Amino acid sequence: MEETVTPKKKVMLSGIQPSGELHLGNYLGAIKNWAARADEFECYYFMADLHTITVRQNPADLRRRTLEQLAQYIACGLDPQKNTLFIQSHVPEHAQLGWVLNCYTMFGELSRMTQFKDKSAKHQENINGGLFTYPALMAADILLYQPDYVPVGEDQKQHCELTRDVAIRFNNIYGDVFKVPEPYIQKVGARIMSLGNPTSKMSKSDPAGCVFLLEDENSIMKKFKRAITDSDTENCVRYAPDEKPGVSNLMGIYAAVTGKSYDEIEKEFAGCGYGVFKPAVGEAVCSALRPIREEASKILADKTYLKNVYTDGAERAAYIAHKTLRKVYKKVGFVER
Ligand code: TRP
Repeated sequence: MEETVTPKKKVMLSGIQPSGELHLGNYLGAIKNWAARADEFECYYFMADLHTITVRQNPADLRRRTLEQLAQYIACGLDPQKNTLFIQSHVPEHAQLGWVLNCYTMFGELSRMTQFKDKSAKHQENINGGLFTYPALMAADILLYQPDYVPVGEDQKQHCELTRDVAIRFNNIYGDVFKVPEPYIQKVGARIMSLGNPTSKMSKSDPAGCVFLLEDENSIMKKFKRAITDSDTENCVRYAPDEKPGVSNLMGIYAAVTGKSYDEIEKEFAGCGYGVFKPAVGEAVCSALRPIREEASKILADKTYLKNVYTDGAERAAYIAHKTLRKVYKKVGFVER
């Protein structure tokens, strides 16, 4: 009998801190692309709750946001059958390998992390040890699953480089324990800019320029009507990111939610001014977010379903994580229990 060998899928893993509400930039720039990847890659996505407490959190908010975030991921199309979705603190191997890797990560390396410098400047009253050693925990998050790729934003590239250095250092001492992963910086998926300030990225810290996934439609429409368009006299919908960053950002959003090309959009709005275009973008965004919001609230109301998803996810994740941790413990010389 002929044997069919299915080639092993490449593994991808990424973590997301449940430290704020998800917005349109997260969706169009990241989550939407993840959903499309599930057939090609074996994907792990987790809520990085252990990381979140490096900055002081309100416990009730952290718990709510962790579950809301999971519900929103599923509502955005991340199928929990096809992806492993889990909560970091449910898989204790993260903290366990995190400790080990702390001992293979240098003080000097950690001191050079720009995120540490930024965050410690921002939270001067709470520059704790966790904030400093966070990249060693992130290295553990990644290396536990032996992934090929780590999809992250530009801001996490330095942490991914450090993860590679730590993996290589460990492998040089103990043999091939860890796969050395590549960062996977997203090319597709528009970089969505703030509606109020189109030269900076859409961010939850600038709520007037930011559209949240669970936001009500009146409020979304208001934000689009108020969106900054450009101070040219042209009043014409034309894609020119350098010259017309505001209009071009709106076109990028419209293109992403409708699937239309810039050419098609220019034709559709030929002869119309910004006064027609801006609410049209708002309507298109509302229609795109409506099913997500409805689905997310349905999922959130079904506590049993949500619990099944994260319990099953943690089980699948722990199986792989445990295998890697056992190998590491053996290599460094811990006595097996
Ligand atoms: N540090 C990432 C962030 O702040 C979140 C994160 C934690 C992560 N562990 C990870 C990302 C592992 C990718 C892989 O956005």
